[in-house]
Amino acid sequence: MHSLNVGVSTLGLLAALVAPILAQESSYFVMYSTDPVVVERVDPLLSPGTVSSHEHSVIGANGFAATMDFAQTQTATCATVPVKADKSNYWFPSLYYQSPHNGSFLRAKDNSNTRIYYKFGTGGNGPDLERSEFPKEFRMITGNALLRHDDGSMGSPGNQLNWMCHDGGNNPRATGFPTGFTNCDAQGFAATIRFPSCWNGKDFNPASPQAHMAFPINQDGMKGCEAPFNVKRFPEIMIEYWLDITQFTGDYGSNDKPWVLAPGDNTGYSFHADFINGWEPGVLAAAMKTCRVGNTAEPLDTSSCFGANSLYTDAEKRACSGSVKNVVAEDTGTTSYIKALPGCNPIQSGPADATPQKNCPNVVTSLGDGGSGKAVSSPVGTTTLATSTSSKTTSQLSTSTSATTTKSSAVVSPSETSTSGGSTSGGPASVTAADGSTWAAAGCYVDTVNPRTLPTNGWWGNPITNTECAKGCSKLGFSISGAENGGQCFCGNSLGSSAKVDSSECKSPCAGDSSQKCGGPARLSVYKKSSSTKKARAHRHLERHRQAAVS
Ligand SMILES: *[C@@H]1O[C@H](CO)[C@@H](O)[C@H](O)[C@H]1NC(C)=O
Repeated sequence: MHSLNVGVSTLGLLAALVAPILAQESSYFVMYSTDPVVVERVDPLLSPGTVSSHEHSVIGANGFAATMDFAQTQTATCATVPVKADKSNYWFPSLYYQSPHNGSFLRAKDNSNTRIYYKFGTGGNGPDLERSEFPKEFRMITGNALLRHDDGSMGSPGNQLNWMCHDGGNNPRATGFPTGFTNCDAQGFAATIRFPSCWNGKDFNPASPQAHMAFPINQDGMKGCEAPFNVKRFPEIMIEYWLDITQFTGDYGSNDKPWVLAPGDNTGYSFHADFINGWEPGVLAAAMKTCRVGNTAEPLDTSSCFGANSLYTDAEKRACSGSVKNVVAEDTGTTSYIKALPGCNPIQSGPADATPQKNCPNVVTSLGDGGSGKAVSSPVGTTTLATSTSSKTTSQLSTSTSATTTKSSAVVSPSETSTSGGSTSGGPASVTAADGSTWAAAGCYVDTVNPRTLPTNGWWGNPITNTECAKGCSKLGFSISGAENGGQCFCGNSLGSSAKVDSSECKSPCAGDSSQKCGGPARLSVYKKSSSTKKARAHRHLERHRQAAVS
């Protein structure tokens, strides 16, 4: 647990960066959350009633379910936050650590120090009496899961989005993941994100999830909300998501980029947060008029905020963590390393916006009972296909399976399957990429490691093979691929001064196909793009005729 000092110094740092936060003085309160009520590939805002595309860590009350409205929030009986009247949920993408040694993922631990700020102050340090509480069915999202570069929408560091490694020294921070640190052992790694607070009176629209809200300009009261977002001004919600990454200290170096958000993002820009309102009507409105707590540690000053018996104890909050049963039966990578992110999101590093992942093979998507929040018996962490319990689940499954089958049978050419393991690169003699280009085995090369011979991590989220690595690098627009140490894939356009070595040094069985070799320790099984797309197509065409002739 962190002391009062930690909270104050954190806010001090933020305040120094952002004037409006500094100005709000004591007209806000902070709720500390224990660990999530559930970690799950569920998102009732964007994917109601179905499995969502990426893993989320969900905090707040235990009414959380795949399908939610205000009435559902009110079924809650406990929360990870102290204020009993707040039956809301808040969720954000889980953070994974990707091993720089083998590409596998482990979810970073929450450090039970995540905080939710509610701010309702003016620039003159007083309470802003023009703030409204949220309407019953209110919901919103801040941030963008597809973002992979700083497009300005998230403000300067410390404003809308900020990542900080609290290492007790320089505290490296940036809008995306900061770099150049080798531990955050002092206090942890944290993302800070603000929600917009100006509302145009319209409902949340999943097709355009940001459209009903805007960030305020630097003015008090309703003047801070520009038309048409001047129907109501709410308190500003700001979340600090705190992670304990001490277990990885020593496993990564300052040049590595091991942090990956659940959507397949190693830049940090895709951090986003969702809010569904579950405040008991009247409570937040009353609190904003009287509550002058400021940045105190727990317990909140109930006398000025929520009245007698208004708070859960720390033990009650802790007991609520993990109390929502998982309905998606898959391994979240919480207790041991997993080879692909849940939802098999490939890592997309930008700067272009990410492409949503469509077909996800080998993934369990059993959505219990359609999202009432009641438990389903599917064990958590299994990797076998769970028995589906509803026709909805079955149809989701069959859709994704058939799409996948079609896709893979279309791109695997006979040459790839027949010569597995035979070339000096340890895999097939050649690979045909999705665009028709041919990638030829070029032998075993040294990875200079620091810096890497092939600079771009081409990991796409599936177990490594030479074939898939070459295809992945092709898709990313590179001309050379290199599989390393059985489980890594790197891409580039030049081998630089890297030495070619005897093919026996590329001896690590590929994680995705043990009959192939995928490099070795600091050794790359290299494939080079050897023909243009057009030529390759003609070649394949010819091949097909030849095949047809012999069969
Ligand atoms: C991958 O590397 C990590 C350390 O980075 C290690 O703890 C883990 O066991 C390795 N997993 C596999 C499958 O080799």
